Amino acid sequence: MKRMMILFVLMLAAVASAQQPGNPAPQQPQPPAPVQPPSVPNHYDGVASCANSGCHGSTQPLDASHVLQNEYYTWLSKDRHAQAYNVLFSDRSARVARNMRLKGKAYQETVCLDCHSTNVPARLVSGKVDVEDGVQCEACHGPASGWRAEHTQAGWTYEQSVARGMTDLRNLPVRASGCLSCHLGNDKKEVDHELIASGHPILAFELDNYTETMPPHWRRGKDSVAADTHGARAFAVGQAAAFSQSLDNLARHARGEKWPEFSDMSCINCHHSLETSGWRQERGWPGRAGLPSWSPQHWAVLRLLVGRANPSARAKLDNDVEIVAVRVARMNDSNGVLQAANEARRTIDNVIPQIAALSWRDDDVRSMMRTIAGDTDFLLTADVHSAEQTALALQSLASALTRNNPRLLKSPMTEAIDALFEEVKSRERYEPSRFVQKLAAVRAAL
Ligand code: HEC
Ligand code: HEC
Ligand code: HEC
Ligand code: HEC
Repeated sequence: MKRMMILFVLMLAAVASAQQPGNPAPQQPQPPAPVQPPSVPNHYDGVASCANSGCHGSTQPLDASHVLQNEYYTWLSKDRHAQAYNVLFSDRSARVARNMRLKGKAYQETVCLDCHSTNVPARLVSGKVDVEDGVQCEACHGPASGWRAEHTQAGWTYEQSVARGMTDLRNLPVRASGCLSCHLGNDKKEVDHELIASGHPILAFELDNYTETMPPHWRRGKDSVAADTHGARAFAVGQAAAFSQSLDNLARHARGEKWPEFSDMSCINCHHSLETSGWRQERGWPGRAGLPSWSPQHWAVLRLLVGRANPSARAKLDNDVEIVAVRVARMNDSNGVLQAANEARRTIDNVIPQIAALSWRDDDVRSMMRTIAGDTDFLLTADVHSAEQTALALQSLASALTRNNPRLLKSPMTEAIDALFEEVKSRERYEPSRFVQKLAAVRAAL
């Protein structure tokens, strides 16, 4: 017992000395160092263990295998995830920490490190995992100890690695849930209204767009190993996964002490100027006047996909979602919200396989784009976040077409879609009727 106390005090001292005031400037992730092969699966080895020049640390892409082998350099020099820890040293982070009354600095606090680094418990670490490395390989690919040494052996398969703890990123619901854990939030971490009010940016996400705007460290193109898991299919499954996850978050808020949780609602309902409030009365309210509403952002585009994959599920979900919206707006029926959210979630989870099986020939893509760009009645009463999802969806689908026909890169279609992003860039000045006008230009260009 006494021994443990001494150990504990020593540990505290070590932590304290590492956290002296005037903390060192954020450091670049360290260059690769060899690490002993560990024996237990599901432990974290650290990014250095991936980064030998013969493994993923080449400075140039190689032709020796189906992977590029310069993944470490792409990540280190271009990927925002490598900088995710460093942003915790910014003035903005300091302000968020102050407003949240956190005891330590942002870069010391679990609530920030959980999304801005690979923050795993020490008992799961076999190599050297530094918070400074930010969101490193294992945050997305899973703990490497069970397959790192093995996966370069001749005859070793992808499936064997997955069985030994590698995250199956070719499986779209699995990939989505990994990204969404940080980009939408889950039961362990989230950016709620308290964080936003304290100064954290609002999170927006669309699986395909965000995957393709990462500097790619995987082979692209029709012939790559996992081509079918990029593009329209990733967009479609990503929409369903985000909706399901948002309902899980809503149910959790309703179950716990954080009710009502304002980030489930449309920000504009509470945050708008009264000086020019004629528009509010013009547009009216879906239910009783003067209540805030549930944000339909994760349902906005997905409705149209479900309509294609399974029309009767669409009708059921329209109904489920309406119940969710009415109960959220009342703010005093957390039990009702919990039940309605769970019901809607069950329904969408059952449809995900059908959404994943949709075919995406160019004709299908164009037809879905026309449907999305024609969804004006819905968008006229929805919020800016729904419009943002519409713009992201059209961009994802447009890039699916562009991949087969590069001439479309500079075309009236891409120009019209870029113009949509201009409309949502300032959430403050968003005006649904202008957005809907710009959608007409997209339809005309299709
Ligand atoms: C649920 C995950 C999550 C949590 C918790 C979280 N963040 Fe973030 N944070 C993100 C993501 C994702 C982004 C990037 C948003 C984007 O660009 O789409 C981000 C962006 C930021 C930015 C803007 C960075 C830039 O490059 O401009 C700052 C600053 C920030 N976070 C600070 C914090 C601080 C401080 C905390 C703790 C109080 C925190 N974050 C907690 C996920 C999270
Ligand atoms: C933010 C998440 C993220 C991080 C961090 C990340 N990756 Fe990836 N990685 C992906 C995604 C997504 C893919 C594409 C998966 C697919 O196409 O099936 C991918 C693909 C790969 C592939 C190709 C796999 C294949 O089967 O073709 C390799 C190799 C790889 N990553 C290695 C790394 C290494 C090494 C690091 C760290 C230096 C790293 N990744 C960091 C998300 C990430
Ligand atoms: C462990 C948490 C975590 C995971 C998992 C994660 N991200 Fe991120 N991501 C972040 C943070 C934090 C930032 C902001 C970093 C910064 O501002 O420097 C970010 C930034 C990004 C950006 C840059 C956003 C911008 O505004 O430029 C993209 C794109 C992105 N992530 C895509 C993905 C994708 C795709 C996946 C899944 C394959 C994923 N991320 C998984 C935490 C995560
Ligand atoms: C049900 C009402 C309600 C909803 C919905 C709501 N908020 Fe708030 N918000 C508040 C209140 C109340 C405050 C505290 C106001 C104050 O002290 O100035 C606040 C404060 C803030 C602040 C800090 C004060 C400021 O003006 O900078 C920000 C930023 C903010 N909210 C953003 C958002 C965003 C983004 C959303 C949507 C994701 C949202 N809010 C949804 C009621 C709401």
